[in-house]
Amino acid sequence: MDNRPIGIMDSGVGGLTVARYLKKKYPDEGIVFIGDTAHNPYGDKTKEEITTLASSLRDYLLKKQVKMIIVGCNTISFNAAPSFFDCEVPVVRMSLNMPALDGVKEVAVLATPATIATHRHKHLIHEKYPWIQVHELGFPGLAHAIEMGESRESMESIVRRRVQETGAENAEYAFLACTHYPLEKELISRYLPHAAFWDPAEITVEEGMNLLKSGHQLAGTPQPDQFCFTASGGTADTLVKSIFGSAAHAETVDTGE
Ligand code: DGL
Repeated sequence: MDNRPIGIMDSGVGGLTVARYLKKKYPDEGIVFIGDTAHNPYGDKTKEEITTLASSLRDYLLKKQVKMIIVGCNTISFNAAPSFFDCEVPVVRMSLNMPALDGVKEVAVLATPATIATHRHKHLIHEKYPWIQVHELGFPGLAHAIEMGESRESMESIVRRRVQETGAENAEYAFLACTHYPLEKELISRYLPHAAFWDPAEITVEEGMNLLKSGHQLAGTPQPDQFCFTASGGTADTLVKSIFGSAAHAETVDTGE
C-alpha cells in the first residue's frame, strides 16, 4: 500500500483528459496535476525548450512526493530528451499501444506540430501495416485554442483547413495524439465523419497502474487531489470543476521557470 499521490503533467489542461480516466477507474488514488499554462503551447517549441520546461514540471511533482509521474502530454512524451525520463520514480509516457488495424486503409494522426515532426505514430503503423495511408495532421494553434476556450469558428477553421490540405476526409481511424483534442472530439469528428477515434488516455493510465500494482503500491484509503497551473485564466478552473466536481479547483503555482 502506498498513499503517496500520482503526478500528472501537461503543457496545460489537456492532461486532465488522462487524469479524468485515472480518477474514474481508481478513485482512491490522489492526483497532483501540474499544467504549464504559462508556457502553453509546447507543440511549437524545440526539443530543448520542451525538455527544460518538462523537467521543471517533473521537479515540481517530485517535491510533492509523488510515487509515479504520468506524462499526460504527447508532445513531452515524444520530444523530451532521455535525461527527462531518468528519474527516481517511474515516468510513464503517453501510450503507443495502438489498436489492431487489419483491413484499414487510411488513418489520420492528429497531434501538435512537434509530435508530428517525430513521425512516431506513422512509423509504428508502417512497421506492421506498410500499406496503410497515414495522414499526419499537425494542427498549429488547436491545443492553445482549446486551452483558451476560443470560439468554435476559430477551432473549426483550423481543423477544416488541415483535413482538406491533407486529404484525410475518408480516414477510417483517427488517433488523438494530443491530450487536448479529446476535449473537442465532437468538433473534430465532424470533419472526419468516417473515423473511429482512438484516445490513448485509458491505456496510458493502465500501463502506469500496472507498474504500481506489481509493486503493491496502490493507495489504501481515498486520497485528496490537487490541480495546479502555472498561470491563471483560460479554461482550467471550469474544466477542473466540470470533470472532478464543484469542490475541485485550479490553483495557480510557481514552478520557478
Ligand atoms: N496536450 C499536449 C499533447 O498531448 C500538448 C499541447 C501543446 O502544448 O501544444 O501533445
